[in-house]
Amino acid sequence: MKRSVFVCQQCGSQAPKWLGRCGQCGAWGTLVEERESSKAAPDVRRTEAPRLLTDVGVASGVRRETGLGELDRVLGGGLVRGSVVLIGGDPGIGKSTLALQAACALSASGARVLYVAGEESAEQVKVRAMRIGLGAAGAPGADGGRAPHGETAADPSPWIVAETTLEALLALLHEMTPEVIVIDSVQTLASAELGSAAGSVGQVREVAARLVTACKAAGTAAFLIGHVTKEGFLAGPRVLEHMVDTVLYFEGDRDHAFRILRAAKNRFGSTNEIGVFEMREGGLIGVPNASEIFLAERPAMAAGSAVIATIEGSRPILVEVQALVSAAPYGTPRRTTLGLDANRAALLAAVLEKRMGMRLGDRDIFLNVAGGVRVEEPAADLGVVAAIASSYLDRPLGSDVVVMGEVGLTGEVRAIGRADARVREGARLGFRRAIVPAANARQSSPDDGVEIVGVRALDELFAAAFGSDASARG
Ligand code: TYD
Ligand code: MG
Repeated sequence: MKRSVFVCQQCGSQAPKWLGRCGQCGAWGTLVEERESSKAAPDVRRTEAPRLLTDVGVASGVRRETGLGELDRVLGGGLVRGSVVLIGGDPGIGKSTLALQAACALSASGARVLYVAGEESAEQVKVRAMRIGLGAAGAPGADGGRAPHGETAADPSPWIVAETTLEALLALLHEMTPEVIVIDSVQTLASAELGSAAGSVGQVREVAARLVTACKAAGTAAFLIGHVTKEGFLAGPRVLEHMVDTVLYFEGDRDHAFRILRAAKNRFGSTNEIGVFEMREGGLIGVPNASEIFLAERPAMAAGSAVIATIEGSRPILVEVQALVSAAPYGTPRRTTLGLDANRAALLAAVLEKRMGMRLGDRDIFLNVAGGVRVEEPAADLGVVAAIASSYLDRPLGSDVVVMGEVGLTGEVRAIGRADARVREGARLGFRRAIVPAANARQSSPDDGVEIVGVRALDELFAAAFGSDASARG
């Protein structure tokens, strides 16, 4: 039986049917369907007695490694028991593949895993599983009589069900008590108690709220997959972010094979870690050596290219920054960036103009981080400046130079964190020179065969990168 009301998300007033405009506060498009809470018998049962914080034990083994190293890294060392993880991303980016690989790996390690396919049939998921070379165990049809509960031996593969009704799924969850459940996707599940269509804000919120409660009670960890549309974040996943423990975004350029898994929220770990994968014919492969991939296509000795060392989470990663400085034909010059903050780039261009006398006011500047990576740390500044200068002067930096440092408004080069780790990553990949802030150069231990050049200001960067005869006035 359907008992629902439409609640204005702005003022909280209720209406029996959907309205485009709230009758109470006059806001447009704010009414969302919700389950009517029965006022007759409010449920005030206490779920847990209060305990002294000192008495709360932390069970060992609350984390379980998924078997995908890059996913574990982003989760903070594995999947926490009873936690709910949202995986968001564009359609076709590889969310289902990632979740299925995790499901198969988890079940191979002995966990009972239930994969709920709302978008595809069980057969379609099986085809994907065979493609990624997993879940092939168990002859098709031969396990028809296997019961989903009451078994003692470990399951040979994940369980799969194509279910789209929330209530039926909750009943199944109660019956099977899997350790891990995958919901692909949260937008295809719908509660029978609401009248609105699957994927609407009201449904997504209801589905997530009840799943979170059920998973916490059963100690089941859940991966919720949610689509993000081109217009940005669909209402669904945004609404979900508050309810779940961890929010991961799976990003990447459709034209490139690699994908980056990024934590936007993590109650059980840092949000700085990223996981790097490559999408191959046979599924997603973790890429522990991200720098090698990001530098693979770097042109040798090209003007406008600089290799920077950035820290993503706990790891240093080398990426290439490319700059193109060209005459601005129409009045206001443009500063266009991909993978870098546009305001920061405009600021660095202004510093170059003011402190180094470069005439950038009538030039367009295009900046790109190769490979679709996004770099947000100020430690990238010096590399960005070097790339712009290199394009402007039409002089390449040496192909064995890595650049790092923060640039201030007076053109001073400021110290950065973990310079040693960055230099070491450069050394590992065969770089022979590192241009670093002078303050970092003093502390570093140059035992990697890398020549460390400390610079205090942009003029010293120019001398180190382009030689003393480099004239900034081009
Ligand atoms: P999918 O996981 O279905 O994406 P999502 O669930 O995010 O919509 O992956 C879709 C793409 O990945 C599809 O274009 C095909 C590609 N793919 C591979 O290249 N190799 C593989 O082994 C698999 C399973 C998919
Ligand atoms: Mg999918």
